[in-house]
Amino acid sequence: MPIELKKQVIDILKILKNKNTDVLASKLSKELDIDYIVLMSAINDLIAHDLAGFRESEINQVTLTEEGMSYLKKGLPERQLLNIFVEKDIKEIEMDDLLKSSNLPRPIFYVGITNMKKNRWIAQSKASGENKIFLMTESFPKTDLEQFLSKFHDDSIMDYGSLSIEETTNLDILNKRKLIKRMSKTQRVIYLTEKGKKIKLSDIKELKQVSKLTAEMLSSGEWSTVSLKPFDITIPGPTLKAGKIHPVINLINQIREIFISMGFTEIRGPVIESAFFNFDALFQPQDHPARELQDTFYLNIPKVAKLPAKDRVLAVKATHENGGDSNSTGWGYNWDENIAKQTVLRTHTTATTIRRLAEYYNNNDTPPIKVFCIDRVFRNERVDKSHLAEFTQVEGIVIDDNANLGDLIGLLSEFYRKMGFKKIVTRPGFFPYTEPSMEVSVYYDKLGQWLEMGGSGIFRPEVTYPWGIKEPTRVLAWGQGLERIAMLYYEREDIRDLYINPIKWLRNQSY
Ligand code: PHE
Repeated sequence: MPIELKKQVIDILKILKNKNTDVLASKLSKELDIDYIVLMSAINDLIAHDLAGFRESEINQVTLTEEGMSYLKKGLPERQLLNIFVEKDIKEIEMDDLLKSSNLPRPIFYVGITNMKKNRWIAQSKASGENKIFLMTESFPKTDLEQFLSKFHDDSIMDYGSLSIEETTNLDILNKRKLIKRMSKTQRVIYLTEKGKKIKLSDIKELKQVSKLTAEMLSSGEWSTVSLKPFDITIPGPTLKAGKIHPVINLINQIREIFISMGFTEIRGPVIESAFFNFDALFQPQDHPARELQDTFYLNIPKVAKLPAKDRVLAVKATHENGGDSNSTGWGYNWDENIAKQTVLRTHTTATTIRRLAEYYNNNDTPPIKVFCIDRVFRNERVDKSHLAEFTQVEGIVIDDNANLGDLIGLLSEFYRKMGFKKIVTRPGFFPYTEPSMEVSVYYDKLGQWLEMGGSGIFRPEVTYPWGIKEPTRVLAWGQGLERIAMLYYEREDIRDLYINPIKWLRNQSY
């Protein structure tokens, strides 16, 4: 059977035969001015007849950063500074004057100065009491680094697989100066098979394929010479880029479902919280390090928060000073109401569960009460790939008579089982507001690792007594961050992705 190919495919085969050498697919697509995808689909037609093939290989490339691009045009900062000397025929100048006439931002100016010294173009002296710069030579040929930079031309990409040692040194310098970025790319090299090299074009029949018959074809009789393009039902349809629920919200909804299926009710609380509910009501002493500015965002507007009824405030004060009626000796210091009135951005959702204890008191509620909270909290953390300054916590409490540690472990096991973690372990932990306290870890099959999930415990009498929750009624509590789990679920290495929203990742998420 003769080989039948579309006209375009035959044309490409002809070009490949004429070239008589392997070609880079991206180059060929540029050269022929046809779309890369169209080219590769033509190549696939050739592959189907064993006429051609392609190899894939990784190539390492560097590209100029925006700053690098601007220096390619205007010269490196050292050259820009030198130009001032040359243009104005200056032999010596004061550092500050040079800075002013350079119009360069201060850090870049100093980079320029440092490199001018390295190039031995200038010397610096403070001998006269002034900070002066002296021009050292008369000719200033392009440095190796400058020559290397100019190799980027306007196309800012360079392969670095085959650079000389000297070029590599310059590349490293540009890299240190953050003027280039490294990237790797897959390239395809197209070649003809033996069969493809041997075949005569005259042996190939042109395939006239149409996707629909027109009235003209029918009346002209052309219809009898064409073949109909078969439908390929395996080709996926166009991607639908519609709006969808964000993965983090999806996860929150799943966790919400879990709590609700376990008989919990959702509560919400204010983001702007009093130190009272964020710390004091949790029996955290007023000089506790977690309260410090470097962890907690304190607010100026509003500067003070409203506290609950006077007698409740006094009850909390008493737990700090002498334990109140909780059988504790307290922390033994003078509790200051003004510190409790400070406003903060809630640092944990435990503030909100404590508000539920206050409500329990005000409503004269009776146990059991099971509530949860999934909400935003804030900590003054340096943002990096595993830390955010605002994130989400997931927290649950159970108020019940004779609730005990066994109940808590049971609850935690059930909760994490529903989250997809079959094995959990608890270890003793410490929180100022729970006793006993437990750290919870779960086993993550996919990674074959134990992962720390969060804290838990039974609220201390100092925390519950001010709200009338006394033996035998106890409060079980646990809490954890949400974003760490989101990173695992969605296999993100950088926690910031959850909020920076890389569009490619979001598009690949299910609805
Ligand atoms: N609030 C704790 C945290 O922010 C978690 C926790 C909640 C611990 C409830 C014990 C009980 O990490």
